[in-house]
Amino acid sequence: MTVREILKMGDARLLRMAEPVQTFDTPELHALIADLHDTMAAVNGAGLASPQIGVNLQLVIFGSTAVNPRYPGRPLVPRTVLLNPDITPLGTEEEEDWEGCLSVPGLRGVVPRWSRIRYTGFDEKGTPIDRTVDGFHARVVQHECDHLIGKLYPMRVRDFSHFGFTEVLFPDISAAEDD
Ligand code: NI
Repeated sequence: MTVREILKMGDARLLRMAEPVQTFDTPELHALIADLHDTMAAVNGAGLASPQIGVNLQLVIFGSTAVNPRYPGRPLVPRTVLLNPDITPLGTEEEEDWEGCLSVPGLRGVVPRWSRIRYTGFDEKGTPIDRTVDGFHARVVQHECDHLIGKLYPMRVRDFSHFGFTEVLFPDISAAEDD
């Protein structure tokens, strides 16, 4: 399939509300998901949302079968295709951690997220997904699903003293990555 261009912050297409996927298991949908996987793999992303390649659908992919070199030391998140997601926070506890985004290359920031969530949705065949997760998995889902409501992580940063260039903040990571 195809490695697609990833839109960068400032592009108005990243600020839209995404449309729900109406029909599952179509050739067009499978082709789009293959492009998302190819694009994410080409840049070692932890996740990618369809609006980031300019397709305004409620579709995100995340996770991997091996620990991501951009996020060493983080637990493995199962490889997932998630359509029409819905997130419910479980409790009021938040936690802060560093995030980056393929649409905000070269930067990292500390972002508060719900510690524990339930998320539901469908896979590409229309099979329901219903998971209760916490920690890094919960963070990745919240970050990716934010792309479906026009939110980029810098909009969630509360303390800009914890925001900056990856190459300055994390020189070991940045040496191996172009993001
Ligand atoms: Ni992102």
